[in-house]
Amino acid sequence: MSSDVLGQALGPRLPSPLREVDEPAFTERGVRLLLKRDDLIHPALPGNKWRKLAPNLRSATASGHRALLTFGGAYSNHLRATAAAGRLLGLATVGVVRGDELARKPLNPSLARCAADGMRLHFVPRSEYRRRADPGYLDELRARFGGPYLVPEGGSNALAVEGCTALGEELRGVTDVAAVACGTGGTLAGLAAGLAPGQRALGVPVLRGGFLGDEVTRLQHAAFGAVRGDWTLDDRFHGGGYARTTPELEEFAAAFAARHALPQLDRVYVAKLLHALTTLAAEGAFPEGSTVTAVVTG
Ligand SMILES: Cc1ncc(COP(=O)(O)O)c(C=O)c1O
Repeated sequence: MSSDVLGQALGPRLPSPLREVDEPAFTERGVRLLLKRDDLIHPALPGNKWRKLAPNLRSATASGHRALLTFGGAYSNHLRATAAAGRLLGLATVGVVRGDELARKPLNPSLARCAADGMRLHFVPRSEYRRRADPGYLDELRARFGGPYLVPEGGSNALAVEGCTALGEELRGVTDVAAVACGTGGTLAGLAAGLAPGQRALGVPVLRGGFLGDEVTRLQHAAFGAVRGDWTLDDRFHGGGYARTTPELEEFAAAFAARHALPQLDRVYVAKLLHALTTLAAEGAFPEGSTVTAVVTG
């Protein structure tokens, strides 16, 4: 399948829209805030899901695979997007899901959506899930499920990182800082590589742990053979950890969406990013006359 055929089958909206918003913490300091609406790229594969999956889907179909296998937790956006992509392209999908106790419970709405899109859900104990990057385990899964094309957890592999460079390229010449929320770091790795010299990428991890710098470096080496672009991480804004929220964050997200007539903001990633940028603007982290772009990844 050529990239054109993939584009025709899935009809992405690219480049994604870019919109300036008038947000007091920024305008008061003479800083422009732009929203890069990657969430509008595709209804079933929004944001970084499209950017990361599209090159993998091309590779899977070009190499004759008829099935995809990937990994995720019970609420994984990535599992949902993979299931939808499989349905749209006529590929079988297998989701290896963390937590075998889930097999005995009714499916939550996210997993129910995966199943409705035809994904075969394979629930595994947490101890087994921890082996999700172990080559021996991956061979076992390939043998068990008939040789599917494997996509890692969160969709972040070298092809995905390369796919995310287009996000940086779309932002050349329009911003000083491009900021993104980070889970696995794959989107940041590609974004930073796609920006022009003089522009910088800022990553806001939504997980605790401080491990992400090494991971972004590893992913850039896998994709490009070297570290690329000017990127940094600000680890202060995970708000207690993955999917943890606070009344303050909830209030901020609802008010931000209402002020700018946006759909409900993704709480796990996008709300934390916008909250972080607003705090940084108030701290004077962005010079007067500069432009900051927040990537709305989902
Ligand atoms: C909406 C959204 N934003 C950001 C991210 C983080 O992307 P990455 O894992 O590439 O850091 C994810 C996770 O895939 C996501 O679902």
